[in-house]
Amino acid sequence: MTATTATSGGKQVKTAEPPPSSPSLDPLPLLKGFASLRRLTGMYSQGHPMIGQKVKELQELVRQHLGHGPAFRVDIIHGDVYLDGVFASQDNQANMQVVREVTDLGVDSIQIHSGVGPEEILAVAEFLWQFKESSAGESIEAQLVERHVHHISLGKLVPLDTRCQAQQWPDAPTGPLDPAYEESLLLAQQAFDAVASGGALTAVTVRDLVHLLISKVARSNAALGQILAVKQYEPLTYCHSVNVAMLSLLLARQLGLDAPTTAALVEAALLHDIGKTRLPVEVVKKRGALGKWEKSLVESHTTFGAEILVDIDGLRALTPVVALEHHRAVKGTGYPDLGAGVVPHVMSQIVSVADVYEALTGARSYQAPTLPEQACLVLARLAGEKLNTALVKAFVNAVTFFPLGSLVRTSRDEIGVVVGTSTGDPLHPVLTLVTEGLDGPRGQVDTSTRDSSGAYERHIVETLRPQEGTLDATRFLAPAPADA
Ligand SMILES: [Fe+2]
Ligand SMILES: [Fe+2]
Repeated sequence: MTATTATSGGKQVKTAEPPPSSPSLDPLPLLKGFASLRRLTGMYSQGHPMIGQKVKELQELVRQHLGHGPAFRVDIIHGDVYLDGVFASQDNQANMQVVREVTDLGVDSIQIHSGVGPEEILAVAEFLWQFKESSAGESIEAQLVERHVHHISLGKLVPLDTRCQAQQWPDAPTGPLDPAYEESLLLAQQAFDAVASGGALTAVTVRDLVHLLISKVARSNAALGQILAVKQYEPLTYCHSVNVAMLSLLLARQLGLDAPTTAALVEAALLHDIGKTRLPVEVVKKRGALGKWEKSLVESHTTFGAEILVDIDGLRALTPVVALEHHRAVKGTGYPDLGAGVVPHVMSQIVSVADVYEALTGARSYQAPTLPEQACLVLARLAGEKLNTALVKAFVNAVTFFPLGSLVRTSRDEIGVVVGTSTGDPLHPVLTLVTEGLDGPRGQVDTSTRDSSGAYERHIVETLRPQEGTLDATRFLAPAPADA
């Protein structure tokens, strides 16, 4: 099996290697076995000894694969074979024929669960023989169930459609997008479409996009506003990626990173989810909880991404590293499993903060976006475990969460108007308390005050949206200094 490596400042990062639990398993003989059993069932009558022999061989191969877990999955993506989302077999002449034999049938994903019997293996091979002529209509799943196959599923991977747009949310920004932001979305869409359809992504396109983001989008308040309140687009890969790149840039500025490091960060953030172009769109867009198999497929976008990026000449060394690591936690957990205690590179940590924030605040087709301040509270909860605390603090500082005059509720069920924020602790502003009926003031509290054990006395639990015209926040704010 081939392992791809990316270097980062002398540090070798493995991007594709069989998981430790499944040493030296090769799914190719399994595909070959299914292909030849399929042909045998077409050539010989039922019960022929050659068929029986091939079923036995396949059963043994399946048993070996199942020795490492309750199920396994073989995918063929652009001619390459993956076992449980890990690159397993190069597209070479010897393998090409068998791989094509399977994909020509319209099948490029096979999943097998423990409990599978020889009769199911045979039934799938027979099904594949007849499948080519079978007319479309009933789903593959239903046809397999009819044949009493319950432990094997066959699937087709459909390239990601990056053009889907979300339904419009009532409070989505209206009016045209900032031209620089719109141009960057278009460029990103073209780049991601190219990769999704098997084409090449060039370093020049990426540089152009990074330049556009840094030189124009970041300088436009309108564009930043649209990114911070992204509600207009389905965050399918390209749009999500542009936003994560911009939010990472925002954090880079807050941290005072130099220009070359910032450019490297924006490039890595832009491409962190490029591996999603290899996932079936129905899995990427699925609402609600994912099944085990779908979950592991989605998690493979990290290794897929690193593999895509490591092959592109001219990209910065850290770009594949960030794609690989952005779902890993500062505590060394997360996916992919790179070994306990392996802490992600700080660039990956920055992208993780921006990524979580964007995922929360971006519109989903099935759920309204989380408000920025609530997303920040989620970040605060993840700080120390999943995310780097210092980076979360810097990020929260870069985005204003409780603007002066906003109406909030505390964990003590008090309602207050924000009258002051401290840069050191932006999630704990100073409030002037008001009544449910918004009468006040009823005194002032500093939510950053801690009790004797060091814990905050109160937190902000939600931002309230007063009905239009019911709150004149200016009367709670300190009067502007009188003109001389
Ligand atoms: Fe991701
Ligand atoms: Fe992401």
